[in-house]
Amino acid sequence: MPPTADPAQRTSAKPWRWIATLMAMAGVSVTIVLFHYLVAPYLPRGSHDFSLAIILVIGTGFFSYFVFGILSQQQKAVTLANQRLERQRDGLTALREASYAMTTVGDWHDIVQNVVDVARKLTGARYAALAVLEDDDAYTISQFFTSGLSAEEVAAMGPYPTGRGLLGEVIRTRRPIRLQRLQDHPASVGFPPHHPKMESFLGLPLLYQNQVMGHLYLTEKAGGFTADDQSMVELFARQAAAVIANARFYQDRESFATLKERERIGRDLHDGVLQTLYGTTLSIDNLVDSVETLDPFAIKELMRISETLSLLMTDIRFFIQSLESTTIDFKIALTDMLRRQGPMDDISMEFDDSRYLDLHPERIHDLLLSIQEAVSNARSHGHAHHILVHWHSTAESYQVQIIDDGEGFVPQPDASHTHFGVRNMSKRMERWHGHVDIQSRLHEGTTVTLTAPWL
Ligand SMILES: Nc1ncnc2c1ncn2[C@@H]1O[C@H](COP(=O)(O)OP(=O)(O)OP(=O)(O)O)[C@@H](O)[C@H]1O
Ligand SMILES: [Mg+2]
Repeated sequence: MPPTADPAQRTSAKPWRWIATLMAMAGVSVTIVLFHYLVAPYLPRGSHDFSLAIILVIGTGFFSYFVFGILSQQQKAVTLANQRLERQRDGLTALREASYAMTTVGDWHDIVQNVVDVARKLTGARYAALAVLEDDDAYTISQFFTSGLSAEEVAAMGPYPTGRGLLGEVIRTRRPIRLQRLQDHPASVGFPPHHPKMESFLGLPLLYQNQVMGHLYLTEKAGGFTADDQSMVELFARQAAAVIANARFYQDRESFATLKERERIGRDLHDGVLQTLYGTTLSIDNLVDSVETLDPFAIKELMRISETLSLLMTDIRFFIQSLESTTIDFKIALTDMLRRQGPMDDISMEFDDSRYLDLHPERIHDLLLSIQEAVSNARSHGHAHHILVHWHSTAESYQVQIIDDGEGFVPQPDASHTHFGVRNMSKRMERWHGHVDIQSRLHEGTTVTLTAPWL
């Protein structure tokens, strides 16, 4: 790099050269004049020339020493400035390459992971991490991407940081934090066991249009992070935030398109398949009601088919619902299902608490089909007058009871070959590590209890 690159050096060199030359000339002249008037009268004749020469030699020596000192100091400053410029140029080149590397397409996860990897290489940090915050809670870390750690090391550290301590400090202040030893910061709360040693720290928010896209943390750079590192990472963070925001935007658009597609499938299922099935069950019921010559066996078979179709319809309805939304209200879905089975005069529902709102859609699915079966049994086998569906939950488990006042029955040991209802119920509950319990007394009624743990 040419030495004139530093503007300060270029402007100050010329005056200094003139000043030094004039000072040298003035110094010699003044020395000669002063010698002539102040010193010479006191010296013996004949020694004048020699004394003057000695004074001039010593004076020139001091002057040169002084001027060259200044020059070499300036030279040093120039070299330092050049080194700094060179580092900045390297940094900018790396930054440009990093931005290029970041724009490679992929899904949102790949892109964020790429940002952490590039940030780590850019700064020469040993470890890097990027925290993404919860959408509705700007202080909770929802995802944590790391770079420089093996999968085993990540696993050994246990759960992701919670956003307390130093990481939280960056989140709260929304400002960069640069530390030689992160342990010295008052907000530092220490590391969990099996955490690799980390000392130097640089953390900063990734801001895009004043919105936080995530937080970048870099640790363990040999010699610590400098102010220059920080300004380079700040530049990088700005670009990274834009890349992440962009990726998120496209992902949102894609999931919006998927949502529309799911809605369309749901509509088609509802208007096509479901209406056809409904028509078929109506025809069967009509057939059974109006044709008097059907033999009892055929009637029983037709009723069984009609019941199977009704289960299938519940299945499809449930599927449509799950296509349209990610959450399903169990109470509404249950009412919906029971209503479709005919008049609900003989049924009542009781909910002790509202934790059914926490039920996963697949759990609801299995509960609904089991309840449908139990209700159908109570009606067709028990000839019950009244059926109560009762929801109850504790901290550990949830429970649905189907209580009827019908004829009751004595359970048969090997009924499972010809009767599938109860067996299917058990299977559905076992999927969730739960079980079915049936209590029945002749002429008093039957209580079917479906129980499963929350986790
Ligand atoms: N609520 C009830 N009241 C009276 N009897 C019942 C009740 N629930 C079940 N049973 C008796 O238990 C038997 C087994 O029920 P399960 O639901 O397994 O089979 P199914 O209803 O006969 O046939 P499937 O359900 O396979 O169509 C029934 O046949 C019936 O005798
Ligand atoms: Mg049955």
